[in-house]
Amino acid sequence: MTVTILAIESSCDDTSVAVIRDGYVLSNLIASQDIHRSYGGVVPELASRAHQANIVPVTDQAIKKAGITINDINAVAFTRGPGLLGSLLVGTSFAKGFALAQNIPLIEVNHLQAHVLAHFIREKDKEIRIPSFPFLCLLVSGGHTRIIIMKSHLEMEVIGNTIDDAAGEAFDKCGKVMGFPYPAGPIIDKLANEGNKKAFSFPKPSVSGLDFSFSGLKTSFLYFLRDRIKGDPDFIENNKVDLCASLQHTIVSTLTAKLVKASIETGIKEIGIAGGVSANSGLRRAVSEEAEKRKWNLFIPGLSYTTDNAAMIGIVGYFKYLRGEFSDQSVIPLARLH
Ligand code: KG4
Ligand code: ZN
Repeated sequence: MTVTILAIESSCDDTSVAVIRDGYVLSNLIASQDIHRSYGGVVPELASRAHQANIVPVTDQAIKKAGITINDINAVAFTRGPGLLGSLLVGTSFAKGFALAQNIPLIEVNHLQAHVLAHFIREKDKEIRIPSFPFLCLLVSGGHTRIIIMKSHLEMEVIGNTIDDAAGEAFDKCGKVMGFPYPAGPIIDKLANEGNKKAFSFPKPSVSGLDFSFSGLKTSFLYFLRDRIKGDPDFIENNKVDLCASLQHTIVSTLTAKLVKASIETGIKEIGIAGGVSANSGLRRAVSEEAEKRKWNLFIPGLSYTTDNAAMIGIVGYFKYLRGEFSDQSVIPLARLH
C-alpha cells in the first residue's frame, strides 16, 4: 500500500508545503517571508497575513511538483505547535478544511519532534543513513535549544533545555546589535569563516546539568560593544569578522560541551543535530570533530531540512499514519506545545 501525505508547516515565518510518499520526499516547497527583514525579527501579524496569501499557491505547486493529483493524497499533516498562534491558525485551518473536503484523516504534528525526525526523511536515488534508537539529538532553532532522547519514532524525552533564550535567538539578537537584518544567524556564520574566533572572549554561561542559558551572552555582548564604541565609533565595522567568529565560537562551544556531557551521561553514541542553527558551519565542524574523537555515529541533516520545512512535518505524519494516530476536526493550534 502506498501512503501519500500532504504536509503543511506554518509555525513561524515560512509557509511550507510538502508531499511525502512512503517516507520519501516528492516535493518540499517553502515561501519565505522577506517582509520581516527590516523589522529585526518576525512580526506576528504580518506573518499570518503572508501565510494566508501563500498557503493556497504553495500547496498547489507542491502537488504539481510531486506529480500527483489531489485524490492521491491519503492524509494531511500539519504543525499544531509550538509557534506563533496566528501563523499556526492559518496552517491548521487550511489542513482541517482540506481533510474535510477530501474526506481523509487529519494528523497533528509537534514542530519540535519534526525537526528531530528530519533525520528520517528519505530522498529517491539518494543513499541516506538513518539513526537507530535510542538517538540523542541537539535541537537548536530560533525558538528552542534542547537535548532530546528519541526512544522510537514518536517517543521523545527532553533531557536538557534552555532556561531563557534559544541559541538561534542569541545569534539573531547579537546580530541585530551589530546592525544585521533578521535572521542574523546565517550572516554571522558566513562572516565568522573569515574571522579569528579567539579575537574576543565572551563569558560562557554556567548552568547546571544539561540545561542552557543564552540571555546573559546577549547582554554582555551588548555592553562589550557599547564600551568599545566609546573609544572607536567604527569598532563594529572594523572588527566585524572577528566579532562574528568569537561570538559563534562562544555559542557553538557551549552547545557542543553539553551535547558531549549528554552523550557521556546517557551512554548514547547515536548522535544528531537538528533545527535552524544546525545549518551553522561552525557547529557542524565542532560536532564532527567530537564524533571523530568519541566514535559517535553522527547525523547532520541536509541544509534544506535544518530550517523550517514541511518535509519534516510530513515524515512525522507518515509515522503517525502507520500507527493510525489521527486528530478530529475539533483540534486547535497551540502556541506552547511540549
Ligand atoms: O528551525 P528554524 O528555521 O525556526 C525555528 O523553529 O525557530 O530556525 C531559525 C533560526 C534563526 O534563529 C536563524 O538565525 C538560525 O536558525 N540559523 C542559523 C543559521 N541558519 C539559520 N544560525 C546560525 N548559523 C546558521 N547558518
Ligand atoms: Zn523550527
